[in-house]
Amino acid sequence: MTPNENERLTRVTGEAPMGRLMRENYWLPFARCEALEPGGAPMKVRLLGSDLVAFRGKDGTLGLVDERCPHRLASLALARVEDCSLRCIYHGWRIDHTGKVAEVPSEGERSAQFAARIRTKRYHVAEGGGLVWAYLGEGEPPRLPPLPFMDVPAEGRWWSRMVVRCNWLQGFEGALDSVHLNWLHQGWEESRDDSVIVQEAPVYEIEQTGYGLRTAAIRKRGGDGLHFRVAEFIAPFFAFSASRQPVIPTDCSCFISVPIDDENHMLFFGFWDETGKLSDISKFFSGLDPDNLVTEEFDRANNWGQDREAMAMGHFSGFTRSVLHEDVGVQMSMGPIVDRSREQLCGTDLAIVRMRDYLLDQLARQDGGEPIDGPMQAYAQGGFLPFSYEAEAGADWRIGGQRNREARVPA
Ligand code: FES
Ligand SMILES: [Fe+2]
Repeated sequence: MTPNENERLTRVTGEAPMGRLMRENYWLPFARCEALEPGGAPMKVRLLGSDLVAFRGKDGTLGLVDERCPHRLASLALARVEDCSLRCIYHGWRIDHTGKVAEVPSEGERSAQFAARIRTKRYHVAEGGGLVWAYLGEGEPPRLPPLPFMDVPAEGRWWSRMVVRCNWLQGFEGALDSVHLNWLHQGWEESRDDSVIVQEAPVYEIEQTGYGLRTAAIRKRGGDGLHFRVAEFIAPFFAFSASRQPVIPTDCSCFISVPIDDENHMLFFGFWDETGKLSDISKFFSGLDPDNLVTEEFDRANNWGQDREAMAMGHFSGFTRSVLHEDVGVQMSMGPIVDRSREQLCGTDLAIVRMRDYLLDQLARQDGGEPIDGPMQAYAQGGFLPFSYEAEAGADWRIGGQRNREARVPA
């Protein structure tokens, strides 16, 4: 990659093309639904370099507004929540859930008239699939992404969120890079009796799709058997994988790497199970805050908390808090925005290379004034759920994918 391509792919703030692409074409998740309580404190939200505040009125209505009060720019994170609006504590202006000024007390009788003249920016906010989403583009938003976890009942899904202090593409590429499972995560995978991941390096097959990429990891299993593990990658930052289910849509996992700004992103990691019988995932993250799995102390100064004693006792990576700590530890260790022009890629990096091409192509089409074709619609029409299963010699994983689609969508 050239330094220029790296800049184009990674930068999201200001007028950066990737930021524009995400702002104008996509809803961005920013919180778990439970993190915004009715009448609770406003939440600071930073997305694509914009500072916002989200809140939920007592009746459940969500609001998403500029963090700065339109009067003299005090932070509305300090505001009081009154019904479905925010009351700035500095001079009492009231801002409704759409960001409009509703009341300017110091103007007395002229308050409504005065407030109506003040121009504010409108952001869209909505809930779906257990997450709260923002649309930061101007004009009417697209519909919420038709992703498979969106319709799953609450008991069939589980989400965690964390702030990762490096560029969003390092996170997304971590999900694309499945070879690291054999190395980085071996200390965790070995503890699972059903794990096939560490036993043998796979052969990969990659398909370009209308929404990004589909990858199949194919491993030999005792005798003539095969093991398939198929993952889906949907532009710009969704990754679906599955670790241990047969060809029915259970225990699918999802990584979403949402840019906060150029040098920080939010990772949403979760599971869903369309049968509603999600296995107890929370035990893998016990003692951790699901809204903030990685805390501030997780930092370069202490090697991201790597535990050399645990390594001496046999833990491979020394990241003993959760499997996600391994991921985000190495991603942060690459620096805030990794310089991809210095990489020396090898054969197993093909999925990463293909996804970069896909995203660069989307940017080129945006430059040319072409509409961005909807990866979300393309996924809804032709995507697979992620899946993982054992099959006979000579089996075709694409047939398994079709079966998995049919299991989900009755013909
Ligand atoms: S700064 Fe908010 S009311 Fe004055
Ligand atoms: Fe990982």
